[in-house]
Amino acid sequence: MIHLDRYEKRWLVATGIMLVVFALTITVTGFIVGVQLPAAVQRVNPTQVASEGPFANPGVRQLAPGRYDVHMRALTWAFFPNEIHVPQGSAVTFYLTSQDVQHGFYVQGTNLHMMVLPGQVSELTATFRKSGEYLFWCDEYCGLNHQIMSGRIIVDPAH
Ligand code: CUA
Repeated sequence: MIHLDRYEKRWLVATGIMLVVFALTITVTGFIVGVQLPAAVQRVNPTQVASEGPFANPGVRQLAPGRYDVHMRALTWAFFPNEIHVPQGSAVTFYLTSQDVQHGFYVQGTNLHMMVLPGQVSELTATFRKSGEYLFWCDEYCGLNHQIMSGRIIVDPAH
C-alpha cells in the first residue's frame, strides 16, 4: 500500500471529479445541445477551387425532399454565394473552403460555426426550423476589409 499524503489524496479525488465533469460536459454539449465540431472532410488545392470542382460553381443543391447541401467559397473579403434560399424545415449541409487565407463562418442563431481554411473542406449540418433571415459572417480576422465579409441565408416559409 502506497502512503499518500492527505492533501495529495484530496487533489487526486478532485482531479478525478474534474475528469468526470469534463466527460459529462462533452457528452451533454455534443449529444443533447448539438454542439458539433466541424469535420475536415476533404483536401483540395486552394489555387484550383475557383476554377474546377464543386466550389467553382458554388450554391445550393437539393439532395432529397427537405435535404440540401451548399458549397460555399470564401476569399478576401466575400463569400460565394453570399445569399442563399432554402425552405423552412430543411436540413442543410454546408461545405466551405477558402481560396486564399483563413476565414471563419458563423451563422447567427444556429450551431453553425467553423474555420474556413485554404486547402481543406469543412463540413457542418443544421436544420432551419424557423423561417426568416439568418445573417452569417467571417469571424476570423482576415485583413483590411474583414468586417464587411458577410452574407445571409433566407429560410422561406413552408406553405
Ligand atoms: Cu474573412 Cu475575416
